[in-house]
Amino acid sequence: MDITFLLNGETVELTGIAPTTTLLDWLRDTRGLTGTKEGCNEGDCGACTVMVTDASGAKALNACILFLPQLHGKALRTVEGIAAADGTLHPVQRAMVDHHGSQCGFCTPGFIMSMATAHRNGARDHDDQLAGNLCRCTGYAPIIRAAEAAAAEPVPDWVQDSAPARGAAPVFLPGSADQLATLYTAHPDATLVAGATDVGLWVTKALRVLDPVIFLAGCEDLKTVETGDESIRFGAMVDMNRVRDTLAPIYPSYAELIRRYGSVQVRNAATIGGNIANGSPIGDNPPALIALGATLHLRKGETRRSLPIEEFFIDYGKQARDPGEFVEAVSLPRGADSLRCYKLSKRFDQDISAVCGCFNVTVANGVVTGARIAFGGMAGIPKRAAHVEAALIGKPWDKDSVAAALPAFAKDFDPLSDMRASADYRLASAGNMLLRYFAELSGEPVSVLEVSA
Ligand SMILES: Cc1cc2nc3c(=O)[nH]c(=O)nc-3n(C[C@H](O)[C@H](O)[C@H](O)COP(=O)(O)OP(=O)(O)OC[C@H]3O[C@@H](n4cnc5c(N)ncnc54)[C@H](O)[C@@H]3O)c2cc1C
Ligand code: FES
Ligand code: FES
Repeated sequence: MDITFLLNGETVELTGIAPTTTLLDWLRDTRGLTGTKEGCNEGDCGACTVMVTDASGAKALNACILFLPQLHGKALRTVEGIAAADGTLHPVQRAMVDHHGSQCGFCTPGFIMSMATAHRNGARDHDDQLAGNLCRCTGYAPIIRAAEAAAAEPVPDWVQDSAPARGAAPVFLPGSADQLATLYTAHPDATLVAGATDVGLWVTKALRVLDPVIFLAGCEDLKTVETGDESIRFGAMVDMNRVRDTLAPIYPSYAELIRRYGSVQVRNAATIGGNIANGSPIGDNPPALIALGATLHLRKGETRRSLPIEEFFIDYGKQARDPGEFVEAVSLPRGADSLRCYKLSKRFDQDISAVCGCFNVTVANGVVTGARIAFGGMAGIPKRAAHVEAALIGKPWDKDSVAAALPAFAKDFDPLSDMRASADYRLASAGNMLLRYFAELSGEPVSVLEVSA
């Protein structure tokens, strides 16, 4: 496999690399660049954060679950390349020193890279920007103070990378959806790699050998967002931060759900297509998309088909996708916004949902005329609460109808007990989410960030 990228300003050309070599291993073991640390090796701690620039801008990414081919045609900057050649510190490095933001060298490089990327992008929501970086000794206050202090400083010239010319890509890195369709039809046994936030862990944690693999990173035409008056269409390779930015003015509750999806680094890599295709019962997009009545667009070779997204999820680990068929896009209708999404997880930031409930109820003249209610974490697949919906439709939209619908949750779901939550807790939470939805649409404050004792 031949790939090219810029590393701290210098061109790197690699031939014959194993496609599932992680950037972290390569940096540390092959290049001796040990400033990028390995903490968890699964995208959770941010110790391995690097800055990657392409035509869409600069992004913080976790090097531990980033495969080398995903860097083709991009510019990479590690913590070794963040100060100027003459040793002048980057403003975030200077501020970390001034504000006593570091006690050990383990988390600090990752913080510096997240902070430098946020600084370059002018992002000032420091709590969100740093939610994917864990520190166990300094505490966050001095680090946030450092980020705030550095914000006023200009972005140094030396971190203003632009993406290099891409050049000819290796065969398993197709450059368009057409090329992907041809390649995948010829190799239907291949593992598709989109953002690798799931697949990366199969390699780093499950030690699986993946062969063959097809990387979708070069398919620019799968990264498009079409926002029309009637619908919004996301290409499969649109990353979750972009999904969030697109949806913030249209379906703000969905966008808020995505704010709590992984971390900045995970959302910069994770794609909407990967989150649907993996068929996880606890993925955060499917309940929201089902509640909105989204349509999934699949493609195999030249043949395309579309289906209501809930029909894609057949059973645990089983989706309506044929060999050689891939997710090309998902489209969702634009309409009056009665969508509310509630994510319940043990930790507020950067945690997988125990239960994720999405509600979209239509009311006309005080009577429920339509209801789409979908959950993650309540069954082996993301699933609609059909009995609850039926119990609501045709009834007045009031507290009595909502209370009368609550027992229907037990008809819809028989959830598991696992390390995230017990079955009883899940069932009780699902009912409480419906009560919360009613309260929220009635204008009562319900956000856990707003309600205080
Ligand atoms: C630290 C961490 C935190 C996370 N937090 C969350 C969270 O809060 N909420 C959540 O929902 N998920 C979370 N995830 C899971 C993961 O980020 C998502 O499932 C993600 O959206 C997967 O997308 P990807 O592009 O990384 O997919 P990949 O890992 O590249 O692929 C996932 C699967 O989909 C297949 N695939 C990818 N693209 C396509 C396509 N276009 N067509 C057909 N098949 C395809 C792959 O072959 C693979 O089977 C987290 C993961 C990590 C590591
Ligand atoms: S080592 Fe923890 S996120 Fe990469
Ligand atoms: S300073 Fe020690 S973990 Fe961050």
